[in-house]
Amino acid sequence: RKVKPTRIDLGDVTDKNVGQLRVLNRTVFPVSYGEKFYKSVVEDPTFLTKLAFYGGDALVGAVCARLEKKDGKTSLYIMTLGVLALYRDLGIGQKLVEFVCGSHDQFKDEKIEEVYLHVQEGNDALKFYSKFGFEECEKVENYYQKIQPATAIVLRKKLD
Ligand code: ACO
Repeated sequence: RKVKPTRIDLGDVTDKNVGQLRVLNRTVFPVSYGEKFYKSVVEDPTFLTKLAFYGGDALVGAVCARLEKKDGKTSLYIMTLGVLALYRDLGIGQKLVEFVCGSHDQFKDEKIEEVYLHVQEGNDALKFYSKFGFEECEKVENYYQKIQPATAIVLRKKLD
């Protein structure tokens, strides 16, 4: 590790800093998210977002997830989890993934069975997620419309 983890703080998204989150996501992901997404990030109670700050105030990473109920099952779906390239390998991604897999006041009345996400085939993030007990479950051809490869892998982790 290059820095002590005490220099990384997790914080909440607000209407004041959501613009910074948009810039971060635009930098980190090949897929872009629109105005509606960021409005939901701030206002929708099913959205779960956490920001990672380095040295007190620089936004360097974030995770956006959402509560989903499908086929009688309650899950958390990770939409985005990213860290700026210069700040990778410092344990920030780990903090964000552990946050999502932990318990949340906002969903205290829910029984969340699993956390899942899509990852582009060939993305090194597959190795990152496998460290935290996520398993490769399905392959979805033509999942991505604007990037190649278009194939996604669904990763799942059961929560207890
Ligand atoms: N290849 C192999 N192992 C990795 C990689 C990698 N590319 N990245 C991290 N790891 C391992 C680390 O070595 C570390 O293991 P260790 O504890 O044994 O040393 C562990 O995973 C945790 O690493 P962190 O430092 O916490 O991860 P980091 O802050 O670098 O973030 C992330 C990892 C989020 C994948 C980052 O590389 C990133 O933002 N990538 C670009 C965006 C992306 O692809 N995000 C995921 C797409 S899927 C989605 O968002 C739904």
